[in-house]
Amino acid sequence: MYKFLIDKLERENSLTFNEYLDLIQHREQICDYAAERAAAVRDKYYGKRVFTRGLIELSNYCKNDCYYCGIRRSNKNCERYRLTAEDILECAKEGYSLGFRTFVLQGGEDSYYTDELLCGIIREIKRLYPDCAVTLSLGERSYDSYKALREAGADRYLLRHETCSKAHYEKLHPDNMSFENRLRCLYDLKRLGFQVGAGFMVGSPYQTEEDLANELLFLKRLQPQMVGIGPFIAHRDTPFKDFENGTAEMTLFLLSLIRLTLPRVLLPATTALGTIHPLGREMGIEAGANVLMPNLSPTAVRKKYMLYDNKICTGDEAAQCVNCLANRIKSTGCEIVNDRGDYNYEI
Ligand code: 5AD
Ligand code: FES
Repeated sequence: MYKFLIDKLERENSLTFNEYLDLIQHREQICDYAAERAAAVRDKYYGKRVFTRGLIELSNYCKNDCYYCGIRRSNKNCERYRLTAEDILECAKEGYSLGFRTFVLQGGEDSYYTDELLCGIIREIKRLYPDCAVTLSLGERSYDSYKALREAGADRYLLRHETCSKAHYEKLHPDNMSFENRLRCLYDLKRLGFQVGAGFMVGSPYQTEEDLANELLFLKRLQPQMVGIGPFIAHRDTPFKDFENGTAEMTLFLLSLIRLTLPRVLLPATTALGTIHPLGREMGIEAGANVLMPNLSPTAVRKKYMLYDNKICTGDEAAQCVNCLANRIKSTGCEIVNDRGDYNYEI
């Protein structure tokens, strides 16, 4: 019965709300088969190649106060830092020598990083490393700002929508943040020709199985090139400190459903998944993911970019993570490649 639904999803790349919900509710019975088919679809479009992205966490200042996030404005225990343009270029240099061909500049919403400053950094990275892609993950900005960043050479933009339900969005964020603006940003980014990444947390407070079925329908409509999902993990200094964490099991099943719904999607096995389960990232690859995003930030600031408790790899040098991941990924039969890893628009 559920096998039939997975086969239908593989064939048609979509299901109805009730079908997605049925699968989610009976995932225990069908998750192994879903992972097997999702990995086969990943192989068809990308082979057994896993792409890496060097993550540079440029600032943990943030003007927002999302209830789940450890670097929210109101967290007085968070020691703030910002990287200078020189620091960022230093990270990129190390990353390039380690084989990275995509750099992700991620940070809180920090007005210190004006369009002018960011455009200068993007142009410099592109000048020094013309064979690399630049991905930004800097939150909500204006259309004109996104346009300037795109014209400076940025290739991709990650902005998780966090939830596709307006009512749920309002339970995760204070009143001054708006679901409509979040979606406006995603559509602006698409219009500007960025490869766009959306995504959500799995098991965030108040999320229902119905919400998750809707996430799959939402992604199908949005057609992002990348989808980032990971389990919600409570952070001790946030209003959500006492909520239960999301699970690896649900995250893995959703990775498979996302791969079958959007066959070409670039899909990371996230650090949060590796935090909630010691083999989370390996299992993510086995469930159909094909991207890893190790940290390139200077070790001195890593522990300060704590979105959630117990984040892994905050004490390790970038080179250590690169070696560690290479070994871990071998166990899945996949291999890490030094490649920009663009979206496969071709076949
Ligand atoms: N648990 C898991 N993921 C989180 N994020 C923020 N806080 C948490 C948390 N407590 C995710 C959000 C954000 C991304 C950068 O990290 O989805 O978009
Ligand atoms: Fe960072 Fe294993 S990936 S130490």
